[in-house]
Amino acid sequence: MIALACDHGGFELMLEIKAHLDAEGFEYMDFGTLSTESCDYPDYAVRAARAVARRECDRGILVCGTGVGMSIAANKVPGIRAALCADCFTAEMTRRHNDANILALGGRVIGSGLALKIVDVFLSTGFEAGSRHSRRVGMLSELDETRD
Ligand code: RB5
Repeated sequence: MIALACDHGGFELMLEIKAHLDAEGFEYMDFGTLSTESCDYPDYAVRAARAVARRECDRGILVCGTGVGMSIAANKVPGIRAALCADCFTAEMTRRHNDANILALGGRVIGSGLALKIVDVFLSTGFEAGSRHSRRVGMLSELDETRD
């Protein structure tokens, strides 16, 4: 189950992502927004991110104009490791090394062809568990416990 959220800047790309996920047979929960009307990206990012953090969803995909606002907002939710990706290599490595559980994309930055390839790589690549990367991801989890 994939949590989806976008703002008005990511709405058009999110339509393409949803069509792609439908064609690939993925299930998703859509946390909005549902139009190109201007809205505030933190509202939508946090709804999807909390669904991932609560394990109601396995992964998340967030889209805003740049992907930056969505990724910043999502990373404020404990348990979330959101990665802003604009290339397939980063998408692969953030799964293998960071166990990223949310992909952020910039709808005004990359075209839909590349974006859908990035989505495919992100959803099909596993984490290299039991390695030095597990220790480092554990350190990230410890940072969730601190507020200073
Ligand atoms: C909206 O204009 C834009 O600021 C938003 O989509 C996103 O790019 C923020 O990071």
